[in-house]
Amino acid sequence: MPSLHDAARGRILFGGDYNPEQWPEEVWADDVRLMEEAGVNSVTVGVFSWAMIEPRPGAREFGWLDRLLDLLAAHGIGAVLATPTASPPPWMGALHPETLPRTEDGALVNYGSRQHFCPSSPVYRRYAAALTEDLAARYADHPALTVWHINNEYCTHCWCDETAGHFRRWLGSRYTTLDALNDAWGTAFWSQRYDTWAEILPPRRAQYMRNPAQELDFKRFTSDALMECYTAERDIVARHTPHIPVTTNFMPLWSGQDAWAWAEQEDIVSVDVYPDPTDPHGGQYNAMLADMTRSQARGPWMVMEQAAGPVNWRDVNHPKPAGLNRLWSLQAVARGADALCYFQWRQSRQGAEKFHSGMLSHAGEEGRTFREVKRIGAELALIGAEVSGTEVTADVAVLHDWDAWWSSTQQGRPSSLVSYTELVQTWHRGLWESGISTEFARPGGDLSAYRMVLVPQLQLLGDAAVDDLVAYVRGGGTLVCGFFTGVVDTDDRIRPGGMDARLRELFGIRTMHEWWPLDAGATVECDGFEGTLWSEELEPDGSAETVAAYRGGELDGLPAVLRKGTAWYVSTLPGPEALRGLLGRVAADAGVRPVLEGLPPGVEAVRRGALLFLLNHGRSPATVELPGRYVDLLTGDAADGGVELERYGVAVLGDVRS
Ligand code: GLA
Ligand code: GLA
Repeated sequence: MPSLHDAARGRILFGGDYNPEQWPEEVWADDVRLMEEAGVNSVTVGVFSWAMIEPRPGAREFGWLDRLLDLLAAHGIGAVLATPTASPPPWMGALHPETLPRTEDGALVNYGSRQHFCPSSPVYRRYAAALTEDLAARYADHPALTVWHINNEYCTHCWCDETAGHFRRWLGSRYTTLDALNDAWGTAFWSQRYDTWAEILPPRRAQYMRNPAQELDFKRFTSDALMECYTAERDIVARHTPHIPVTTNFMPLWSGQDAWAWAEQEDIVSVDVYPDPTDPHGGQYNAMLADMTRSQARGPWMVMEQAAGPVNWRDVNHPKPAGLNRLWSLQAVARGADALCYFQWRQSRQGAEKFHSGMLSHAGEEGRTFREVKRIGAELALIGAEVSGTEVTADVAVLHDWDAWWSSTQQGRPSSLVSYTELVQTWHRGLWESGISTEFARPGGDLSAYRMVLVPQLQLLGDAAVDDLVAYVRGGGTLVCGFFTGVVDTDDRIRPGGMDARLRELFGIRTMHEWWPLDAGATVECDGFEGTLWSEELEPDGSAETVAAYRGGELDGLPAVLRKGTAWYVSTLPGPEALRGLLGRVAADAGVRPVLEGLPPGVEAVRRGALLFLLNHGRSPATVELPGRYVDLLTGDAADGGVELERYGVAVLGDVRS
């Protein structure tokens, strides 16, 4: 199987989305000159070029793309070539309105923006396949081609009649019989029983709360329907170029695609990352996305898009202060990225993204943004050979799962304040702030490599995943599990006792009497800390130790934190410091060490291969004591005993060689 290694070949790929069709061709020469100056060795082309290539049904205008790819090849710049199927041309919607999506209200989603296709539309799929076929045939042997980029951020949802038929076929293969479907969806409730398959609809607008099991299946279906679009195009390009790796770019922590399942279908796992420059936890968020994508890729991965400066889709779009682009870029590399790319190369002058930054901003080559890009490019060239292809290892895994996420977002739950993604980020932050390296894993996967496994929250857990957690602890593993976990099975049916019986036994819980969610801003007193968001009226069975109890209020004296051997259960959300302390203590007991002891606050240390990356997320300089003698690959300076990091400063340290 081809991999990122085949494209990177001992370098870090550096570049971005390049949309030269937005510019007169005279500008292209200037582009490649500046790309060379910035150390750009890879650009992503063709992402939104459908109407340029196929201006009317069946036409093919490849001349401009021929000239562009030839120009790139002549300058040694590789092309991540996209199938332009994310934005069908206006003619398609005009000629075939059935290719356009419909919302859950039945309203038509028109062309005039992008991503306006129904994933279930056979007409859309036919046009997309025909164009992909011709694109792949034409450029299979082009020397610029290094990676295939299929579509872009698959994210469309559709509730149209075509989708309804496709959904029914998907349900037919999942359940075989209507009885099985009625049972799984619990349709005895509110007279929802289906008598024929034809009655079943996607969960459209309804009078009151919809069937949650139907909604869960529709989310599974939509991820699968989009994946069919992806694999159809992937199979076409792979037939022409079996040696060229294929990817599609994920949105970060995006609920619409089960990224574990999708990653198995990709040669390269790539993601678009846009932390907010003003978010005090932006560095940790960037680290979390890196850990997640590296885990999905099981090795080196690709930043397909990041922003050199501001984006244009927040309410207020802040630029990155000097140094922040470099810090977050090198952080991604430290955490396993072998490709670092931006949206986009040259900032657009027209269209909806003219205020979105580019590597080459409106300020041009004298602008600060471009100067910083040049510096990053030069530094990646310095460290590329040492870094590319090397591994990042971790003793801890955070379990993360789309089914559990989907089941947690439904209406009619105990508290709409509980956010699955915020819990995942909060628990990851506890480890990140303790300097402990982390991976993500899927419930039911092999956990034997980890000393410690964290479950921030998995409301839905299948039987195999529950058995796996029990076996992991029996085998000596340390498990820390957050509240409201193991509550429903894979059909979203409540487990008797309010929590899976095997898990209750694992943690020493006799009865889960009630869930007691907390109001926004409310806290509950516990031994040594304050709990937030949630609490539980649980009765221990006497086999576990109460590490911390609730104090005062209705739950006075009941366990907030329970421990039975190496299985820990946390029935509230401790404040950040307390969670960090708890996770740090349990990790130490499990033999998990931070990468470096005694780091100043805000400084992150990551080991990748033989290198030690130090990253200062703080706004003031910091001094880091070092356990040995190193050399900073970025400066060539010796770092004996300690190293000074400026604001947002980075050091990439290698061992001193004799
Ligand atoms: C209403 C309805 C019931 C039930 C309750 C829940 O009273 O009539 O069927 O849904 O709300 O509070
Ligand atoms: C996404 C898209 C890009 C661009 C950026 C802007 O990541 O893939 O085409 O719109 O957002 O941030």
